[in-house]
Amino acid sequence: LLLSADLCCCQVYLLTDKGGLGRVFDGVGGLSGGGATSRLLVNYEEPYRSQVLDYLFKPNFGASLHILKVEIGGDAQSTDGTEPSHMHYENDENYFRGYEWWLMKEAKKRNPNITLIGLPWAFPGWVGHGKDWPYDFPDITVSYVLKWILGAKQYHDLDIDYIGIWNERDFNVKYIKLLRYTLDKSGLERVRIIASDNQWEPIALKVLLDAELSRAVDVLGAHYPGTRTVPEALKTQKKLWSSEDYSTFNDEVGGGCWARILNQNYVNGHMTATISWNLVASYYEDLPFGRDGLMTAEEPWSGNYVVDSPIWITAHTSQFSQPGWTYLQTVGHLSQGGSYVALTDGKGNLTIVIETMSHEHSVCIRPPLPPFNVTSQNASFLLKGSFVGFSEVTNGSVSLKLAVDEVYTLTTITTGTKGSYPAPPPSARFPKTYSDNFNVRNPPFSEAPLFADQTGVFEYYVNLSETGPHVFTLRQVLTVRPVTWTADADQTISVIGDYHVTCDVFMETMDKGGVFIAARVDKGGQFVRSAGGVYFWVFADGTYNVTNDLAGRSVLAEGHSGTRANRWYTLSLTVKGQLASGWLNGYLLWKNAVVLTPKNGWAAIGTKSFELAQFDNFTVTAQ
Ligand code: GAL
Ligand code: CA
Repeated sequence: LLLSADLCCCQVYLLTDKGGLGRVFDGVGGLSGGGATSRLLVNYEEPYRSQVLDYLFKPNFGASLHILKVEIGGDAQSTDGTEPSHMHYENDENYFRGYEWWLMKEAKKRNPNITLIGLPWAFPGWVGHGKDWPYDFPDITVSYVLKWILGAKQYHDLDIDYIGIWNERDFNVKYIKLLRYTLDKSGLERVRIIASDNQWEPIALKVLLDAELSRAVDVLGAHYPGTRTVPEALKTQKKLWSSEDYSTFNDEVGGGCWARILNQNYVNGHMTATISWNLVASYYEDLPFGRDGLMTAEEPWSGNYVVDSPIWITAHTSQFSQPGWTYLQTVGHLSQGGSYVALTDGKGNLTIVIETMSHEHSVCIRPPLPPFNVTSQNASFLLKGSFVGFSEVTNGSVSLKLAVDEVYTLTTITTGTKGSYPAPPPSARFPKTYSDNFNVRNPPFSEAPLFADQTGVFEYYVNLSETGPHVFTLRQVLTVRPVTWTADADQTISVIGDYHVTCDVFMETMDKGGVFIAARVDKGGQFVRSAGGVYFWVFADGTYNVTNDLAGRSVLAEGHSGTRANRWYTLSLTVKGQLASGWLNGYLLWKNAVVLTPKNGWAAIGTKSFELAQFDNFTVTAQ
């Protein structure tokens, strides 16, 4: 009786290539951007910065990612900040802004075979010719994107492998065809097109019905597909990718989500690549979707970082199979819940990845997860076809007892390791005092450390004509509203830490100009438009005010300041408990404005509109 019970409960799963193989595997990836998700990583000191990069990209060490997808900075808010464009203005080109170039190079250094993908969320205003839309002049948009690809090669020796259309927004068939045509004409036949980084439809149907479009598009990329695809997508015979997925808090449930979708995106949806939003949570945690990365590195001031569970979940697949390997057709669901996939390199290697994630430990941020049950079970994998010889030890089959909420990798590959470094320094709060005079002749990055732009772009600037104390400053450089992806503010703003703030400010717009310093800024990212806080504004028309919000609707104090454009002023702001006071050039200008909320938040600098302005000698002090 016992014996037969044992036999009954041990389900046998056949693994064979007899009837042919499945689809070719394209890899596991991480997404930097969409937006500004790696902002704080660049400001880590060594060796911590390199350690984080090793956990992400170094083969046989950690996540050992196969794919790095980056945002093509479009100067606009794209979730957790803005990323600078390579062309702020029509006649401007600069391939050294932001940190995505640097990140791609660091990834390539570690894994020369890593696949690179670029995708825009937003575009500089001039691309839209004044409209919040990038397709009225497809030739302009194409040449803008093409320049980014060419610049990657020319200035950084980076070969971009795939290019996308417009993240989670409309695609335009004429634009896609022109992009393909122009790439080919420019010797970039090897660059492949992904469309449309949204739902499976309507792109799948369009590709089915339009032969020219079908020739232009190489990969159908869907976001958060819930492991499913649609019949039209399968009919196109294109590669199917989950080109953005995960976006879940990176605790063990996040790890469970990632394990389940890495397997089931293929088992249920025939997807051969899955890309995590985001690569590494390197943005202030209070911004939208805090810690939705494969690991966490959000404290450059302390050096602390956390190698979270999704890193090791990734390793289960990524260290034991490579792009170009092929899935077996014999993949599927386990009888008591969970799933298994198997991949081969066609040269004698086989990797089997099994996951048994329970519902409650694998819910992802979206879409909703229908109920299912998983219990512990015995499973036997029977190797047939060309894999028969693989398992002399086990008599043609591998049997194991599977517990719930586990990932198992069975493999012929022997190079995998769980890489490690000594523990990083302990976590700490933002420094008690922090200041920056921006006096850097050749800054390694265009952005000053720890400032996280939320609308507008703030860059190191050199006043060539200046000889006084303000030769090196920080300058807000956008003059028009970008073609946006989300609700950018009408003002510009860059946030940092929290506390007492002092900063020299310089308006460049006569009469209508305006700048602010702020404390307790409580919102950024996609919610930046409705940010509260204490904002101390001075205007070029000789007035000042103090507002409780970025939009400037709730005025706490106002009056005459005598401030003008093209002169430097020193502004200071203190908020203690519920009382705020402000100084202009060291003289108290207003005091004891009552601030009930917010109770805390970031410090910030910014401008009244998309206008040029400079900032210098920035200081924050904890109170
Ligand atoms: C996606 C978007 C990302 C990020 C993410 C947050 O839809 O493409 O940029 O906003 O959602 O879950
Ligand atoms: Ca300076």
